[in-house]
Amino acid sequence: MVSDKIRKKVTKLRNEIHYHDYKYYVENNPEISDYEYDQLLKELKDLEGMYPSLQSSTSPTQRVGGMPVEGFPTVEHPIPMLSLENTYSEEEIGEFERRLHRELPGEDFEYVVELKIDGVSISLLYEDGNFLRGSTRGDGRRGDEITTNLKTIHTIPLKLRKKVAGRIEVRGEIYMTKSGFLSVNKERERKKEPLFANPRNAGAGSLKLLDPRITHQRPLDNFIYLFSYSTQVPIPSTHMECLKKLKEWGFKINRYVKLCKGMGEVIDFCNSWAEKREELDYDVDGMVIKVNSVDQQMRLGSTTKSPRWAIAYKFPAKQTTTTIRTITVQVGRTGALTPVAVLDPTPLAGTTITRATLHNEDEIRRKDIRIGDTVIIEKGGDIIPQVVKVVESKRKGTEKKFSMPKSCPVCGAEVVRLEDEAVSRCIGSSCPAQLKEKIAHYAQRGAMDIEGLGDKLIDQLVDKGIVSDVADLYGLNLDILSGLERMGEKSSGNLLSQIEKSKSQPLSRLIFAIGIRYVGVRGARILAQNFRSIEDLAKATQEELEVIPEIGPGTAQSIVWFFREKKNKELWERLKKWGVQVKEEKEEKGEIPLAGKKFVFTGGLEHFSRQEANDLVERLGARAISSVSKSVDYVVAGENSGSKYEKAKSLGLNILTEKEFEEIIKGVERK
Ligand code: IVH
Repeated sequence: MVSDKIRKKVTKLRNEIHYHDYKYYVENNPEISDYEYDQLLKELKDLEGMYPSLQSSTSPTQRVGGMPVEGFPTVEHPIPMLSLENTYSEEEIGEFERRLHRELPGEDFEYVVELKIDGVSISLLYEDGNFLRGSTRGDGRRGDEITTNLKTIHTIPLKLRKKVAGRIEVRGEIYMTKSGFLSVNKERERKKEPLFANPRNAGAGSLKLLDPRITHQRPLDNFIYLFSYSTQVPIPSTHMECLKKLKEWGFKINRYVKLCKGMGEVIDFCNSWAEKREELDYDVDGMVIKVNSVDQQMRLGSTTKSPRWAIAYKFPAKQTTTTIRTITVQVGRTGALTPVAVLDPTPLAGTTITRATLHNEDEIRRKDIRIGDTVIIEKGGDIIPQVVKVVESKRKGTEKKFSMPKSCPVCGAEVVRLEDEAVSRCIGSSCPAQLKEKIAHYAQRGAMDIEGLGDKLIDQLVDKGIVSDVADLYGLNLDILSGLERMGEKSSGNLLSQIEKSKSQPLSRLIFAIGIRYVGVRGARILAQNFRSIEDLAKATQEELEVIPEIGPGTAQSIVWFFREKKNKELWERLKKWGVQVKEEKEEKGEIPLAGKKFVFTGGLEHFSRQEANDLVERLGARAISSVSKSVDYVVAGENSGSKYEKAKSLGLNILTEKEFEEIIKGVERK
């Protein structure tokens, strides 16, 4: 039995945290420090841990740490989620007004005009003031239930701030901020993951992630713009009052809302936002005009597609024409070469555009883009300018075709384009544009395992010109290291011994570490077993490589190209000179350490994100899968592991704690 005192304490803590969440996330006006907030949350977490019967799905502790789900169930919306009819001109808005007067002759109308947020629409259901479930629009009748992911968004109240009896449904839009989108993409670029095209796609993708802990890390937010359904509480008589009520209950409402008496005011307000929207940190693709009276809304009703009482006024596409002065090539961290059009500077949607991405060679050919062309450009996803098409009528005949350089504009190494790939890549191993990433790859766990060589340090080493390829790491000494920021004598000494230790890593690790495209841990092991020295591997022909089981033609080609590059060959020589082991002396025992083993991770791990844990076992030849079955070899149970843990127990599977898992990994990596 839990005492009343504890029960009250838990309720008090929850209310306090809900209150501070609202102050912090919705009003942007915190009353307590982050530290004090964390203390409250910790106290609540501890109590809920001690008294599991007090756990509740609407507790603020439930915002993170939810379990990944396997696909989303679909749910039926209480009333269909329609979309809006689009208009693009003042005339069309006038037509909307005339239609209203035809439908309800002799009546006056007031309009509410709002920003049209360019995100993903959602429905939220509350029961007696508690968040019950949330879903996407889906086909309008049924949507995906994404409650756990929505709970990670702090501006979505788990409990309403007033008593609200029965069920209510509200609708709104989830979006990713523009600044958040840029930093998410920056991080993805660093991790060599595909980039999101725009904040809308990034937001939609983040909402549909099966692991809510990753959703939690994404900068998502929401605005609620409709009180759509209620079983007990009366819906107010105007849309303006609905918004006021929603705000009182704790929902985040966009503040740029205007009540307009006539269409003149509506149009002025819409036009005033056509430019101003650039200043916002979220994408707005138009305005929404709504009839204010809820009674009139009901009498106007809907068509099968959209309500008759509201309309979207879309901003004209943000396009303009300019000319391409030249085409340059940028080299990314993965060595990918991206052609970029240098433009005659032109204003577009609030900024001056001087460059536009041309993506790759195929894209240039498809659109037949030439240097000197007059082109129509557009801000794709409102951020990255793109070339939409060439204005052929403006061609003078002096325009020049572009071709990808044969050597890297940064380091001069050869540029290759693998079959099946649209991208051309620089394969020089000392290309500064790729160097930082290569060093991080070389030093990582599973490769040369140089602990203490983090991103910040790599930045300093490369930016100061101390290290210009991975072999230079072996020339570091105490003097150099302790002169760097945040490097004391002790940490420098530790790093040096880690670097020294890396010299005797097995050949397979070195082959992996050097970063040949398509050669992962497994491939590197196979290569080490077949060739036994770098020299032999470097001499291998495409045919010799292709006959090795598990080495496909793409990988074989990539290996041959790698060793054909003079700079890469020199690198090997230098590594050898520094004493790095480039031959396999001893017969390697066994095959790949965790080959074919299946892992399931459940619950939260302290030292790894789910992605890191998955990557780690996959690098060691195992597979990480999501569902528990008899064929699973290990179930790693972290904090709050729920049904999967129970199932694993009932099947008598091998269940590991995080610590035991780490022991296994360490043991395997040492081999
Ligand atoms: S009201 C019956 N208000 O635009 C639909 N929608 O193109 C009533 N949207 O599906 C929607 N901002 O996802 C409304 N202030 C706003 C909006 C908004 C964005 C979205 C919504 C809708 C889509 C229609």
